[in-house]
Amino acid sequence: MKVYELRNVGYRYPTGEWALRGVNIEVRKGETLAVIGPNGAGKTTLLKIMDALLLPTEGEVLFEGKPVTEETMTDKDFRKKVGFLFQSPDVMLFSATVLDDVAFGPIHIWGKAEGSKRALEALKFLGIEGLADRHPYNLSGGEKKKASIAAVLSTEPEVLLLDEPTRDLDLKNRNFVLDMIHRWKGEGRTVVVVTHDLRVIRLADRVYVMDGSVIFEGSPRELFLRPELIERANLDAPEIIKLFHALGIHEEVPMSVEEAAEILIKWKREQSTSKSSTLKEF
Ligand SMILES: Nc1ncnc2c1ncn2[C@@H]1O[C@H](COP(=O)(O)OP(=O)(O)OP(=O)(O)O)[C@@H](O)[C@H]1O
Ligand SMILES: [Mg+2]
Repeated sequence: MKVYELRNVGYRYPTGEWALRGVNIEVRKGETLAVIGPNGAGKTTLLKIMDALLLPTEGEVLFEGKPVTEETMTDKDFRKKVGFLFQSPDVMLFSATVLDDVAFGPIHIWGKAEGSKRALEALKFLGIEGLADRHPYNLSGGEKKKASIAAVLSTEPEVLLLDEPTRDLDLKNRNFVLDMIHRWKGEGRTVVVVTHDLRVIRLADRVYVMDGSVIFEGSPRELFLRPELIERANLDAPEIIKLFHALGIHEEVPMSVEEAAEILIKWKREQSTSKSSTLKEF
């Protein structure tokens, strides 16, 4: 089943600038989709369109087969199904305390008692229950990010739109977010994640590279075989991939250090057998 279908979508901001043109994207139920591209490529605009915060200037968006319209913006069912993690946590944190912020969505859905309970659970899950009574304004960048992730989690959305979820986080917390995306995937939730983080891209079933419009669609492996696309998306190629290019191995591309080791061992074996057969010829 298709969760989203974007047909020839264009978006022009009131300032007159076209952020998106001719975008065709499909999101299938249960898949993890990564969207990458340079700054200003229209990635955030795309997620806002998927979250019905913006309506396209051109083309149309279908959610679960139905057109997204102005009514979708305030549709309770849609809002419950879709969770949006904003690029900047400051946009999501506006209450007097972290708990109030995280509880805002769940209280709206399940009422005060159940909503507050779930909000507290989300804070505990992220290991930040100690921040519950703090003013969001005074949190560190990473703490803000975690609080905004808790706010999205607490409503248990089926579809997660994540705008750079690992930015501002240290290694431990980046790993936590990666595990979380992995777990959501296992639970059959649909994830659309905008990222510059190669480890997030590796987790994805498919990747779209954007630059005003879609310039590539394929698997992470197919993307890593195309260094010019990685450059176009302004991503820093992973060191192991650079190593493989330097070694002149272009047919295979490792997605992890373990895989790189396997390929290199196989490659070394092939090199030595071909060398010994050449030697035999002499
Ligand atoms: N509210 C706005 N009003 C006018 N123009 C905007 C607005 N928001 C974004 N734009 C413009 O639209 C284009 C796409 O912006 P968008 O935020 O979608 O890019 P992005 O791919 O998310 O970039 P980044 O990687 O920097 O987050 C940019 O040229 C930007 O300047
Ligand atoms: Mg953005």
